[in-house]
Amino acid sequence: MTNLNGKTILITGAARRLGRLFALACARSGADIIIHHSHSDEEAKQVKDEIESLGRIAHILASNFGTPDSAARLISQANDISPLYALVNSAAIFENLSFQTTSLEDWNRHLNINLTAPFLLSQEFANHLLAPAAVPGGEDSSKSDSVIKGRIVNILDWRALRPGADHFPYTVSKAALAAMTRSLAVALAPRISVNGLALGAILPPSDTNPADNPSVSEKIIENVPARRWSEAGEVEEALLFLLTGPAYITGEIIHVDGGRHLI
Ligand SMILES: NC(=O)c1ccc[n+]([C@@H]2O[C@H](COP(=O)([O-])OP(=O)(O)OC[C@H]3O[C@@H](n4cnc5c(N)ncnc54)[C@H](OP(=O)(O)O)[C@@H]3O)[C@@H](O)[C@H]2O)c1
Repeated sequence: MTNLNGKTILITGAARRLGRLFALACARSGADIIIHHSHSDEEAKQVKDEIESLGRIAHILASNFGTPDSAARLISQANDISPLYALVNSAAIFENLSFQTTSLEDWNRHLNINLTAPFLLSQEFANHLLAPAAVPGGEDSSKSDSVIKGRIVNILDWRALRPGADHFPYTVSKAALAAMTRSLAVALAPRISVNGLALGAILPPSDTNPADNPSVSEKIIENVPARRWSEAGEVEEALLFLLTGPAYITGEIIHVDGGRHLI
């Protein structure tokens, strides 16, 4: 297992919800965190405080991926703070649009935030990490060309491999991100591993509160073979496995969805 102690990880959308969970899990495992956020300034500061109270270093970088070229600049800004070991692409939007109701603007917004930003971030991350002058931020400073230097984890959705008609532009963007995960695993081997975490029922969308309407929660769980929501620890463990586990695993997509993608 790779030790995350002192390694710096950029996590997009890390100010709240699952991104925050990922940031705290990585910090508890010894990593320093660059917290990316877009609108959630106050929440980002709270996560920074929480990470610092764990004895780790945290920095905040803001960027709106609606304008995706700002995503590329984020990597230089992050590397100026501390050379990155890993990139976790978690920021996304998830709007309830059908094929018929998706406007060109909706389509472009989903693709920009959910797909183009991870593409540009991955490209810049790899360019920095693999540049001859890069300070080794990887798990081994040996000169061997086959030694892994960094890792990318793309946060997907079970829908990415089972595209249906709901949340149309979101689903298409995540399906493309799954394809990009595999394509990049080949393009960036052997120095950077690229894997995906395809999530299921982890946290209800922020615009629904199952406590107000238990039938919403029940309806989501109806189609989950595990018959329950995920526990936070289960998602954290899966992410940490991809960041610290065997470097020989690349192009893999692990489902943490209670079997949702199987039915
Ligand atoms: N929740 C689940 O159960 C579930 C299930 C399947 C897959 N996933 C995936 O897991 C990841 C995290 O899920 P979540 O539910 O925590 O997501 P979320 O609450 O919907 O949003 C994640 C973050 O994306 C950032 N974001 C939104 N628009 C942005 C923009 N224009 N530019 C830059 N960042 C932007 C937001 O940052 P700010 O708040 O700072 O604006 C937000 O904190 C996503 O990739 C999602 O698709 C989640």
